Amino acid sequence: MSAEILLEVEDLWVTYWSRSLFGLDRKPFHAVKGASLTIRRGETLGLVGESGSGKSSIANAVLGLVPAGSGAIRFGGTDLTSMGTRYSPDIRSQIQAVFQDPYSSLNPSMTVEDLVTEPLRVHTKMDRSERRARAAELLKLVSLSEEHLGRHPHQFSGGQRQRIAIASALALEPKLIVLDEPVSALDVSTQNQIINLLYERRDAMGVAYLLIAHDLALVHHISDRIAVMYLGHVVEEGPSDRVYHSPAHPYTRALLDAVPLLDPEAQRQRRAARKAAPAHETPRVSATACPYKNRCPHAMPRCHAEMPPSYPVDGGGTAACFLLDETTSSKASPALDGAAQ
Ligand SMILES: Nc1ncnc2c1ncn2[C@@H]1O[C@H](COP(=O)(O)OP(=O)(O)OP(=O)(O)O)[C@@H](O)[C@H]1O
Ligand SMILES: [Mg+2]
Repeated sequence: MSAEILLEVEDLWVTYWSRSLFGLDRKPFHAVKGASLTIRRGETLGLVGESGSGKSSIANAVLGLVPAGSGAIRFGGTDLTSMGTRYSPDIRSQIQAVFQDPYSSLNPSMTVEDLVTEPLRVHTKMDRSERRARAAELLKLVSLSEEHLGRHPHQFSGGQRQRIAIASALALEPKLIVLDEPVSALDVSTQNQIINLLYERRDAMGVAYLLIAHDLALVHHISDRIAVMYLGHVVEEGPSDRVYHSPAHPYTRALLDAVPLLDPEAQRQRRAARKAAPAHETPRVSATACPYKNRCPHAMPRCHAEMPPSYPVDGGGTAACFLLDETTSSKASPALDGAAQ
């Protein structure tokens, strides 16, 4: 029997508002447009999609770092959307995060001991020596040692810094860790080591992951399920093996065919250009066409006129593509045969 649902994101919209020079003319930009996702206890959901598709916006909404414009985010049955960006300490302790850049996400003036024990200081009544003992234990879990406690982040490699970030995220034994591209900044062999570490910790501690990455092949190894985003929409979702070996949406197929392209410079520039996003009610706008229609080799007139609903896919999960509508096309399967090996 499947485990209980831990995180439920339902029809989530995340909107950023741009401001003109004098702040009069405000324009909404919808980064997430009605996305739905589910993570069960102890499960890993891989969230993939090209740069700018809205992955971090979903992650940040789940973490309460950006407001949900509309829709619902439920965690263990608690409605997080009603808390806005002010989660209760209990929820904060149960949802932890590890971000992409191990060079900027760790405060350089803090020691490893401070970094790893920070969540314990905020959320528990442990005294300093108890926290120190726990930090030493946590460092062992991520293959670092007690001797590292007094050092500062700049004395470590990128991979080691991610280990420190993971140790800190594990400190409170959270139920969910949001991992936003935890290995993108690392070289390939270090990536594998960190993925293996995450794998091992998950199995030992029963923690669930929302794992964001560009590389579907990498996500496939560790995820139970995979969700694929395109322009703010979840276009496909399903069991990891099914999505990887038999993708149903043409965009997932394109992602698998392409060598994952991460242009760090373009990503940096776009992120630098962003402005702070104040909380505002998001107007609900229904899409009137498939978001992938202009790039899709199978686009039909219908794809320009209607937003495809999510259709069930053989082998599990769903895909939002009219090729799966039996009344539209009998060519759906042959067109998408021969998926990634
Ligand atoms: N604070 C912000 N203000 C304005 N626009 C934003 C903000 N944050 C993100 N965006 C825009 O929202 C869209 C989705 O961004 P998001 O960071 O969620 O994508 P992503 O899939 O995580 O991309 P990446 O792979 O580059 O991290 C992008 O077009 C981005 O420029
Ligand atoms: Mg991102």
